[in-house]
Amino acid sequence: MFQKYYQKIEELKKKDQYRTLVNVTGSVGAEVSIDGKKMILLSSNNYLGLAGSWEMKERTIAAVQAIGTGAGASRLISGNLGIHEELEKRIAKFKRSDSAILFSTGYMANTGVISSLAGEGDLILSDNLNHASIIDGCRLSGAEIVKYPHKDFDYLGNFLSRRRNESKFAGKVLIITDGLFSMDGDLAPLPQLQKIAKENNGLLLVDDAHATGVIGSRGKGTCEYFGLKKENIIQIGTFSKALGSLGGFVAGPEIIIEYLKNTARSFIYTTALPPSVCASSLAALDIIEKDPSIRENLLKNVEIVRNGLIDMGYNCLDSRTHIIPVLTGDAGLTMKFAKGLLEKGIFAPAIRPPTVPDGKSRIRVSLMSSHTEKHLEMIIDGFRSEGKRLGII
Ligand SMILES: Cc1ncc(COP(=O)(O)O)c(C=O)c1O
Repeated sequence: MFQKYYQKIEELKKKDQYRTLVNVTGSVGAEVSIDGKKMILLSSNNYLGLAGSWEMKERTIAAVQAIGTGAGASRLISGNLGIHEELEKRIAKFKRSDSAILFSTGYMANTGVISSLAGEGDLILSDNLNHASIIDGCRLSGAEIVKYPHKDFDYLGNFLSRRRNESKFAGKVLIITDGLFSMDGDLAPLPQLQKIAKENNGLLLVDDAHATGVIGSRGKGTCEYFGLKKENIIQIGTFSKALGSLGGFVAGPEIIIEYLKNTARSFIYTTALPPSVCASSLAALDIIEKDPSIRENLLKNVEIVRNGLIDMGYNCLDSRTHIIPVLTGDAGLTMKFAKGLLEKGIFAPAIRPPTVPDGKSRIRVSLMSSHTEKHLEMIIDGFRSEGKRLGII
């Protein structure tokens, strides 16, 4: 009865794609404990270090005391609390959108918004490096899905103009992209994508999971970074990464948000977020807006580490952000690299297929604002000695 599952596990082990969970203990910060040993954390999405901040903790605890631990029902039944609506208004304002809707996770925001806005007879154009939650949302929608080569807006424009000439296409057009790509650390060419979407009477959906709180002059994300007008854009995001909390959101025109409240299954058929989680997210937005030095420190750390890695001869692709891919290629070699780093007190797991394509395994360095100068020195030294030992540099 279980034979097929055993076989699959054996196959994964042979391909160096078998995964295990690492038990991380202690409070979340730039250092964590693994098997009782202190490690520099180089793989967290808690980019601004807010998940461990006293202000976030205090506001979260206060919400538990004032409101309780759970919402008790879905939003459309009796779980719609004042704090949900407060957070929706706040994130809409932060994203400079007309309106917003919360989801329990970023994953659920993607599956909900995509499967709601597109269906049979519609066309979705999706960057081939988009996150798994976007891919799953596309599959759920039942629309025609065309994956375009990474960031290739010429391909996209030509494809759509051919499609317009060839057939009488009457469906909706959705272009979907990560704003900041989670594994390559590069930014999507949003101005060009927005223009192409407009020429085709379509919408541009931008998943800013990794950009919210960090990218743009006030950390509002990639749309702020590129100075885009909001007209045909829908922004998706999560509170779980730089904002150190949990929960997804979609921000966009009133009519789209109203439509999602009525049709998005991952919004309708699930219990509303706990109020304490919304309080954490509100606290994070307050901190980000009042203290830009946290973001500035992260950018400074990025500059130091990226320059250090490139000077050593590493291939860090096109990244200029806090996500720095350090290409190692082979999955087995990448595992050895990650193990070597771990022995030096640096926790940066190997990223392997199917998360990234075959031959593109890597160590995904994700920097935090709270990494100190000492941490940065140890990181650079660790990559130098492991890279030399394994013949990568
Ligand atoms: C680009 C992208 N979108 C969405 C998500 C999902 O967000 P969450 O962790 O809040 O479910 C992730 C998480 O890894 C992501 O990288």
